[in-house]
Amino acid sequence: MRHLLGVDDLDATTATEILDDAERFEQALLGREVRKLPTLRGRTVMTVFYENSTRTRVSFEVAGKWMSADVINVSASSSSAGKGESLRDTAKTLHAAGADALIVRHPASGAAHQIARWTSEEGPGPSVINAGDGTHEHPTQALLDALTLRQRLGTLEGKRIGIVGDVLHSRVARSNAHLLSTLGATVVLVAPPTLLPVGVEQWPVLVEHHLDAALPALDAVMMLRVQAERMNGGFFPSAREYSIRYGLNDRRLALLPDEAIVLHPGPMLRGMEIGFSVADSPRATVLQQVTNGVHVRMAVLFRLLVGTDGEVG
Ligand code: CP
Repeated sequence: MRHLLGVDDLDATTATEILDDAERFEQALLGREVRKLPTLRGRTVMTVFYENSTRTRVSFEVAGKWMSADVINVSASSSSAGKGESLRDTAKTLHAAGADALIVRHPASGAAHQIARWTSEEGPGPSVINAGDGTHEHPTQALLDALTLRQRLGTLEGKRIGIVGDVLHSRVARSNAHLLSTLGATVVLVAPPTLLPVGVEQWPVLVEHHLDAALPALDAVMMLRVQAERMNGGFFPSAREYSIRYGLNDRRLALLPDEAIVLHPGPMLRGMEIGFSVADSPRATVLQQVTNGVHVRMAVLFRLLVGTDGEVG
């Protein structure tokens, strides 16, 4: 496996191996005073973010550093992209500067795929990891969500997972819908018709419009952030109506089965798609997802830069 551009790159076996490796990394680091493994010593990992991020950028940086890679963070605002340099020239420049891996977030769907093509034009280029491209994909988010679900539910096989809210603009929803169904779950999208993408009937999912009706049958519910930055100034239903119809409040939490859990990829808009007390409830896995994100990203870097025969540390 050379790149991780989307969940299409992951069959059930590969995805499961990555989740297993993530848990091996977690175990390898457990109880260590110095969290440093030699796995990527001498390798250079660059994060290239053209959109804001807290969780993804930081967890890739922590993952690289815990594996002894040299990690360099490039942000669009402080790089020569701000002077008008093209994405192609920036990508080729970072390759020429010695990147073994480029971790890319960009507002344009397909940007990571393009970078993988451009940096391979004159021979083998760096491994490219898609850290979120427009409304398209966020594969490492889906992997860390799958790991969290597996840890909390025991398995994904036969489980019913709801993904609720602004599916239309959500790369998290797209990657999760496909990966979770590859891993044996039944995925139920719960959204107003205006916030579902064209072609959703080709996705491996069920579709519901009424959250109250969907909740009692779910093993887990994943609440999506309303992606106002991709909506050109307005959306239907209105923010107030959205919160009333699709927000997970205390009353709705009680409609879930007792063992069901609540995921959110973050950042959360408390009071919009998720209530304040729901976000802080023991059934919410938000911070476990963040911790799992570090270990999953270690496992992805390991697979791309070392291969499946290497030792984790
Ligand atoms: N879930 C996620 O991608 O969060 P960030 O935007 O903070 O990276």
